Amino acid sequence: MALLHTRRLLAAPRFFTAAANRASSWWSHVEMGPPDPILGVTEAYKRDSNPKKMNLGVGAYRDDNGKPYVLSCVRKAEAMIASKKMDKEYLPIGGLADFTRASAELALGENSEAFKSGRYVTVQGISGTGSLRIGANFLHRFSRTGRDVYLPKPSWGNHTPIFRDAGLQLQSYRYYDPNTCSLDFSGAMDDIARIPEKSIILLHACAHNPTGVDPRQEQWKELAATVKKRKLLVYFDMAYQGFASGDINRDAWAVRHFIEQGINVLLSQSYAKNMGLYGERAGAFTVICSDAEEAKRVESQLKILIRPMYSNPPLNGARIAAAILNTPELRQEWLVEVKGMADRIIGMRTQLVANLKKEGSSHNWQHITDQIGMFCFTGLKPDQVDRLTKEFSIYMTKDGRISVAGVTSGNVGYLAHAIHQVTK
Ligand SMILES: Cc1ncc(COP(=O)(O)O)c(C=O)c1O
Repeated sequence: MALLHTRRLLAAPRFFTAAANRASSWWSHVEMGPPDPILGVTEAYKRDSNPKKMNLGVGAYRDDNGKPYVLSCVRKAEAMIASKKMDKEYLPIGGLADFTRASAELALGENSEAFKSGRYVTVQGISGTGSLRIGANFLHRFSRTGRDVYLPKPSWGNHTPIFRDAGLQLQSYRYYDPNTCSLDFSGAMDDIARIPEKSIILLHACAHNPTGVDPRQEQWKELAATVKKRKLLVYFDMAYQGFASGDINRDAWAVRHFIEQGINVLLSQSYAKNMGLYGERAGAFTVICSDAEEAKRVESQLKILIRPMYSNPPLNGARIAAAILNTPELRQEWLVEVKGMADRIIGMRTQLVANLKKEGSSHNWQHITDQIGMFCFTGLKPDQVDRLTKEFSIYMTKDGRISVAGVTSGNVGYLAHAIHQVTK
């Protein structure tokens, strides 16, 4: 007893010191932030010991064994780069020229007038996110006509903080109809027609995240006409070129159509998904300008903007992507591999619907196959998502979004069974 008392006395000053330190700290006012919703799903998944558990939250491609996939063209490009024993000098502020040129050509198409005439500037960015951030900062500094950026509702969760942290204001337009699990085209058109002239509008070029819902080509045409009439500044986010349909040209159709209509867009690209270069952080930001001279001026200001942020971009991912895009055999191999990834995901959508029917589900699941890209907005309600997690160890975000990349021939039957159990 006496010993315990003594211990407490000894501990007391330490406790007071800790409390005093906390009160006098520079950061005592910093509150605990909420955890990232997607990483939270992964953490819970890791703790689960059920051998049948599935993680459908994470947005990274998995092969049919549920394993991360490194493209064979990437392995070959790496070997080619290693064999050349290249130096590790700094890249220029705007990035690797072979990479930025090839990225612009990939997005715009080799026959694009804007590409051939040089009335564009492309700088390397830190994957899609970093490229969007360059664009957001550029808009904040140079947009003469307002600070409002209109996002589709819903949009990728990171769009809001990217634009907000760059000092822009977020607005939204209708995009998704939860009743049909498809595009609310008339809602989108109504809202876009009311956006104040010269505002900024963000469009997902293909494989809209999180809904998997894209406009059809005729709808894109109407959208382009309205956007042009409203004189909106269009910012395309293209994080999935080739990964959506399996065809790089088809997935870039909207971007190319808008430019052909005389709409000088901004564009962010990412090689995370379509080359599986997630951690390499290879991406690009492009501004289509009215002529090559304007492009030079814009380029000079992009460099001024980038220099104090991170000085110059990382070398390795850009070298890999450039080697693939600029070496005919590797490029050909990549086109086959990216189609293989897209086709596997499309196949899983079909199998999921077939298995739901086999389970006896009478719901209309057509939206699963109508939607495209890595994600599917299943239409499952939060309580159904909860049941899937608790009763079947199937993890996903509360909005009912699943990453179809996490579905395999081995677990699609289990997933269909579980979905049927919580929806019947
Ligand atoms: C719509 C959209 N834009 C941009 C990104 C950027 O990804 P990254 O920074 O990994 O290239 C993603 C990734 O999930 C995305 O879904």
